[in-house]
Amino acid sequence: MCGIIGYLGERPATPIIMESLKRLEYRGYDSAGVAILNEDAHHTSVVKSASKVDTLIERLQEDMPTGHLGIGHTRWATHGRPTVINAHPHTDCTGKVMVIHNGIIENFAELRRDLEQRGHVFVSETDTEVVPHLIEENFRGDLVGAVRAALAKLRGTYAMAIFSQHDPDLLIGARLNAPLVVGIGEKEWFIASDITAIIPYTKKVLLIGEGEMVSVTPLGPEVSTLAGTAVKPKIIEVKWDVAQAQKGGYVHFMAKEINEASETVSNALRGRLSDEGEVTFEDFALTDRQLLKIRDIKMVAAGTSYYAALLGKYIIEDLARVPVEVEPASEFRYRQPIIDENTLVLGISQSGETADTLAAIREARRLGAKVISITNVVGSSMALESDGVIYLHAGPEIGVASTKTFVAHIACLYLLGIRIAAVRHRIPPERLRELTAALKQLPGAVHDVLESAPAIQELARTYARYQNFMYMGRGINYPIALEGALKLKEISYLHAEGYAAGELKHGPIALLDKGFPVFAIATASQTLEKMVSNIQEVLARDAPVVALVSRGSQVLQGMTVDALEVPAVSEFLSPIPNVVALQLFAYFVAAERGCNVDQPRNLAKSVTVE
Ligand code: AGP
Repeated sequence: MCGIIGYLGERPATPIIMESLKRLEYRGYDSAGVAILNEDAHHTSVVKSASKVDTLIERLQEDMPTGHLGIGHTRWATHGRPTVINAHPHTDCTGKVMVIHNGIIENFAELRRDLEQRGHVFVSETDTEVVPHLIEENFRGDLVGAVRAALAKLRGTYAMAIFSQHDPDLLIGARLNAPLVVGIGEKEWFIASDITAIIPYTKKVLLIGEGEMVSVTPLGPEVSTLAGTAVKPKIIEVKWDVAQAQKGGYVHFMAKEINEASETVSNALRGRLSDEGEVTFEDFALTDRQLLKIRDIKMVAAGTSYYAALLGKYIIEDLARVPVEVEPASEFRYRQPIIDENTLVLGISQSGETADTLAAIREARRLGAKVISITNVVGSSMALESDGVIYLHAGPEIGVASTKTFVAHIACLYLLGIRIAAVRHRIPPERLRELTAALKQLPGAVHDVLESAPAIQELARTYARYQNFMYMGRGINYPIALEGALKLKEISYLHAEGYAAGELKHGPIALLDKGFPVFAIATASQTLEKMVSNIQEVLARDAPVVALVSRGSQVLQGMTVDALEVPAVSEFLSPIPNVVALQLFAYFVAAERGCNVDQPRNLAKSVTVE
């Protein structure tokens, strides 16, 4: 996700845009840029930097562009590495149309090919750059009409701010499945990704609807549909302060990021899974023939990503019937792993910079394996040193504890499992159809879990007084039990262990008593009866039990447990809604205990040391 800001008004645009970009930096911070239409309206100053907003500000302060119309962008790269060339704004062949964009244009490759065939010259690797060239191609003196025509050709998601030297008193905004608001000041207007950027200047905000666009002139904003139908916009007064706004009104970034889980699943799947179940990745680099040659898969990761990898084993082996071995990267890299040219190594890392995981994929490549990394950061070290990359498209995750990126990893692993299975014709057409439809409904199931947050919070308040927790799961939810325990311990500093439920009676059950609660994942599964027996074994030791159950399940009827209902989805897809419930539980326990949820002691967001 990126941050965008546009300004048109009586004050100089540059200082306002610089300040707004600082407040939008939490949305993305790998590169930044501004375009300011100079006073004479015959020249546009464009300044970019391939690093944080502060570097851009330093450059702007050396020679501050003047002018009352401008746009600014802070980037979270999805297509094209974080370089100056790829930083926004992007322009057309004439250099007169300036565009900044947050979102993903799914059909950018075909649009770019057609535009290049018609003589347009591109300079960046981004999907965004097709927009100014489409506007240029459709411009006959009416910028608004040209923007409408350009946007009509796009598939995907966008929030944009656009201006052109042709119209020095016109700022255009447009949105589709990405946030955009208009701030209304005193003879000045702002177009921004969210209210964070504009709160110091105005609390009067105009809301643009899905698929609508806004044309701002010194007479004020006019909102319309892409077809040109005028829309009467909704105007609200905002109550938040800046800090609250950056967190979307949540108390912590972690809470905001957990609540982005539904959108995160949608973003991970977007443009990659056809209705027929065909999977395509944009930076994959391995051909079907190369995939077919793969005889074994090894997955390397750390921490929460290691648990995502463990889950990936269940997913890929179930779908593709290719043996998968999972190992902590810190172990893999030192034990002379058995690898050859028919081995595929998957590096799982939201940061793409974890030292052990990076070293592990380097070792894998040295031994001749093909390497694919699944990561959230475009241009990260692992992305650059892999044969192929699958990006999470989850946007920045500010909270140190991984939440939405774990969900995104699982969504991407389902896609990868389908892709590897497809070249082997391993998935019966009926199962592929059902799985595809169910995956596309997953964001709804996750939203359902998020709606149950009050019930989870109430339970967390009850359990926050305990010092020890046991998490138990079976099958594909065993890694979820491990992750649930890690989430709790790393943000609340309580002792929590994750176990395969069948293993409890082989030792850990000795720990249990009335002061040692157990969190059981007892959602619909082929081994549910066994889980019920495990819960009974736990209750027989007087340990309190919290159980995740599928909505409407009577399986624990009459048992003294605290049940948390989650949507009834297939066992195969249950890890994502289940883990969101566990993330909320951990968050509310830690919040109840007054812990520093976003920056827990001793931890770092990216462990770049061994
Ligand atoms: C996650 O909650 C932890 N902060 C930590 O275990 C993390 O998952 C681990 O350091 C791996 O990070 P990566 O995904 O960036 O490689």
